[in-house]
Amino acid sequence: MFKWKENFSCNIEEIDKQHQKLFQIGNDIYKLVTSKDDRDHYDEIMAIIRELEEYTVYHFNYEEELMSKYGYNELEEHKNQHTLFVDKIKEIQTEDIDLRQKKVAMDTLMFVADWIENHILKSDHKYNEFLNDKGVY
Ligand SMILES: [Fe+2]
Ligand SMILES: [Fe+2]
Repeated sequence: MFKWKENFSCNIEEIDKQHQKLFQIGNDIYKLVTSKDDRDHYDEIMAIIRELEEYTVYHFNYEEELMSKYGYNELEEHKNQHTLFVDKIKEIQTEDIDLRQKKVAMDTLMFVADWIENHILKSDHKYNEFLNDKGVY
């Protein structure tokens, strides 16, 4: 489902690595959502959403520190987008996952897909030239 392509690259090695890790988490969610067995996936779904939250917070902090260090002027706006994503992941975890496992996992998946398309390809790609100019690769 989430296949890394060159056009996702921000031309900054560590950022690309972190984005690839987010793709991997997205793929793990996809596997859970599309599994055909009747087993209960509650624990796995909870674990993966928690992993998504933790890794996202780590990644966002990393980006924000980098942008702040080099005085990127759209930092505040970018930060606001990050905050919305983290709030959404927290909100997902308060839903009644046990009863609606597949639906919640599917919502999470759609959310990650949208994020990759809209946030990485638009907002993250805005800072890459700025940081490359500062010598960050
Ligand atoms: Fe990012
Ligand atoms: Fe970002």
